[in-house]
Amino acid sequence: MRAHDVKEILIDKATIARRVDGLVDDIAAESPGNLVVVGILKGSFMFLADLMRSFYRHDVHPRIDFLTLSSYGSGTSSSGKVEIIHDIREEIVGADVLLVDDILDTGHTLAFTKKLLSGYGARSVRTCVLLDKKAHRTIEFEADYAGFLVDDHFVVGYGLDYNNLYRELPHIAKVRFLD
Ligand code: PRP
Repeated sequence: MRAHDVKEILIDKATIARRVDGLVDDIAAESPGNLVVVGILKGSFMFLADLMRSFYRHDVHPRIDFLTLSSYGSGTSSSGKVEIIHDIREEIVGADVLLVDDILDTGHTLAFTKKLLSGYGARSVRTCVLLDKKAHRTIEFEADYAGFLVDDHFVVGYGLDYNNLYRELPHIAKVRFLD
């Protein structure tokens, strides 16, 4: 691992909390009927937990599931090859799925997963990401709900990692490499 620090806060905790509520207001306004929230692990766990708490304000009661994927690449960028490590267990035929991830980068992960869940018979699959690194897209893909646009920085925290570290930060921080 390269020498680095994560001292610079890019998006603070309160700003994230406000945006999460705003996203859920938008999602709930489209009044999904049979809602199943599906998180892509590991990165989505914190964002998904806060989204779920926010649904409570709207008296919306989604079912929940997770899937674990692995993308093979250089560690800081994904290669486009996605493999299912652990699939969903919930029945989603006819359901309105909200697919949640921490970051939309090249687009491969969400494009792959959206197709997968549509193939399982979901009535609709909408996507929700906390961060959108638009400039990094290598395929055409847009999220239905995106929290924040981010430039091409290496960011960690609130579920996002560097070598599986810093996921616990309550904010989004910039990784500064010191070498
Ligand atoms: C990260 C992130 C997204 C994906 C986005 O996952 O959590 O799932 O990459 O990249 P893409 O748009 O280029 O496909 P990662 O493979 O690092 O696994 P993690 O969720 O366990 O951190």
